[in-house]
Amino acid sequence: MEATPFTIAMVNRKGGCAKTGTTHQLSGAFAKMGLRVLLVDMDPQASLTQGFFGPAATEAIPREKTVVALFDDACDPDPDRLLLPTPCQGITILPGANSLDDYNLPKPTETGSLQTSLKGFLREVQGRFDAVLVDCPPNLHLCSWNALLAADFVMVPVQAEDFGAQGITHIQRSIDLALAKYNPNLRMLGYLVTLRQRLAIHDAYEMQLRNLYGSYVFDVSFGLSKDVKEAIAERLPIHFLRPRCKAAKDVNAIAEEILRRIPAARSTPPEFLHFENRVGLGESRKVAS
Ligand SMILES: Nc1ncnc2c1ncn2[C@@H]1O[C@H](COP(=O)(O)OP(=O)(O)OP(=O)(O)O)[C@@H](O)[C@H]1O
Ligand SMILES: [Mg+2]
Repeated sequence: MEATPFTIAMVNRKGGCAKTGTTHQLSGAFAKMGLRVLLVDMDPQASLTQGFFGPAATEAIPREKTVVALFDDACDPDPDRLLLPTPCQGITILPGANSLDDYNLPKPTETGSLQTSLKGFLREVQGRFDAVLVDCPPNLHLCSWNALLAADFVMVPVQAEDFGAQGITHIQRSIDLALAKYNPNLRMLGYLVTLRQRLAIHDAYEMQLRNLYGSYVFDVSFGLSKDVKEAIAERLPIHFLRPRCKAAKDVNAIAEEILRRIPAARSTPPEFLHFENRVGLGESRKVAS
C-alpha cells in the first residue's frame, strides 16, 4: 500500500486511557495493510516494548540500545544499533527503558537541544518507514514534548469517563505551544474515545466530547474488548492473533479513519485548540505559518 509517510504522537496527560494499547493495536493494522511501521516507546514505563517482549526481556535490553541513547551523550544514537525488529512482520520498535526517567524532565522548553532528540533521529530514518507511532507517558514532560516536536500529527486517546477529560486543556496548551513556536507542521488528528463500553455514562460522555470538540472527535471509538485483552496477554496485536475477530475490524476502522483524516489535516491551516489561544489566533498564525 502506498502512503505518504506520517508520524503520530499518542498523547494524553491522563494515565490508563489506552495510549499504549491503541498504539500497539494500530501497529498491527497498519503492518497488515502493508505499511512499514516504526513504534517509538517514549514512555519510561516501557509498556509498549513489554507489549512485544515481556518485562524481563525489556529490562535486559542495554540502555544504550534503547530510546535513552537519543538523550545520553555517552551513547551512539545510530539507528542501526537501536532499531529492533519485533516478532510481527512489518513492525520495528525503538525500545523504551525505565532509565528514560532520568531524561523526562518536567520543564521541557528549558532543556535546549534535548527537545529535538527524537526529531533528529526520525530525520535519520526517513524513507525507511511509512507509519511512525510514538507512545508517550501520562504527562507532558520532555518525552511527550519530544513527540510533539517530531510528529506531523497528534492523536489523543480519551477514556469515555469524566476523569478522561480533565487533562485535555493542558494537552491543548502544549500542542498550541509546539505549533506556535517549534513545529509549524503539527496538526491535531483527533480525540479517540477508548475503553468504550455500552454504558449510558459512556454515551453521555461521548456526546459531551462531540459537542465540545466537533469533528476533532474520531467517528469511530475503541471498545473495551476481551479479544484485545487476550492479545495483550499473548503479546501480539490482535491482527497477528485473531485477524477476523470484531476487535480486529474495530482497530481497522480506526486505522482507516486515520488514513482518511491525514490528508485533510495536512491541508488544514494551523489552528490553535485551546480557547485562550484561539482568541489571539490572527496574531499567532503569523508565527506558525
Ligand atoms: N481495547 C482494549 N480492550 C481491553 N483492554 C484494553 C484495551 N485497550 C487497553 N486496554 C487495557 O487497559 C489498560 C490501560 O491501557 P494502556 O496501558 O494502554 O493505557 P495507557 O494510557 O498507555 O497508560 P499509561 O498512561 O500508564 O501509559 C491496560 O490494562 C490495557 O491492557
Ligand atoms: Mg502507556
